[in-house]
Amino acid sequence: MKIIRAKDYKDMSRKAANIISAQVIMKPNCVLGLATGGTPVGTYQQLIDWYNKGDVDFSEVTTVNLDEYRGLPRENPQSYWSFMHDNFFDHVNIDPARINLPDGTNLDAAAECKRYDEVIHNVGGIDLQLLGIGHDGHIGFNEPGAAFELGTHCVDLTQETIEANKRFFDGNVDLVPKQAYTMGIKTIMQARKVLLVANGAGKAEIIKKAFFGPVTPEVPASILQMHPDFTLVGDAEALSLI
Ligand code: GLP
Repeated sequence: MKIIRAKDYKDMSRKAANIISAQVIMKPNCVLGLATGGTPVGTYQQLIDWYNKGDVDFSEVTTVNLDEYRGLPRENPQSYWSFMHDNFFDHVNIDPARINLPDGTNLDAAAECKRYDEVIHNVGGIDLQLLGIGHDGHIGFNEPGAAFELGTHCVDLTQETIEANKRFFDGNVDLVPKQAYTMGIKTIMQARKVLLVANGAGKAEIIKKAFFGPVTPEVPASILQMHPDFTLVGDAEALSLI
């Protein structure tokens, strides 16, 4: 495990974007595993900036996103499909045919999860997986207790996650979908590199617990301690307890 200390959010975003752009420069046809949430937004902005300056080219990159709300159509502004297009895909030269997310409108969970695992397999696995972390240690939507050996599966979101995500739904808990399709921990652990970004004092406790506590399904991110190429980039606040 490598820990990179950043001064603040901007610095964290630049450091994370540097790692991602290095991956794309070294392997232009790489597979990037991407994440939603507030934390990676600055990382995407930095990548867009470097793309606009001609420093990084996404034309051959394939992406697979971690998760999607079950039941939300792509066009819904709160879908992760919309989030990724608004915050990243629409601003760089990524080929739309190489963008992959779970399909929230396929309500046949078994079929959709199988399809998504095949997508990841068929693109040759993930070269670099970007992650945020939930306050309860969830990665993607792998909530506490999620089995480490799962591939893509359908999850019931915890009340804490629903509460944390209501800010994206006009603060209305009733509008937050209660289920999601998520890449499993097994798939995340099979990524050749994993990069987790964290910022703010609110993440300090879980960062300490996940990366300096026991490896346990009760703290899903803790499994990353076992990953052979795992980098944590955090700002001073998020890393303040370690
Ligand atoms: C959601 C996403 C996760 C993300 C988490 C934390 O639950 N499914 O991938 O890591 O939120 O979000 P934030 O970065 O906004 O704290």
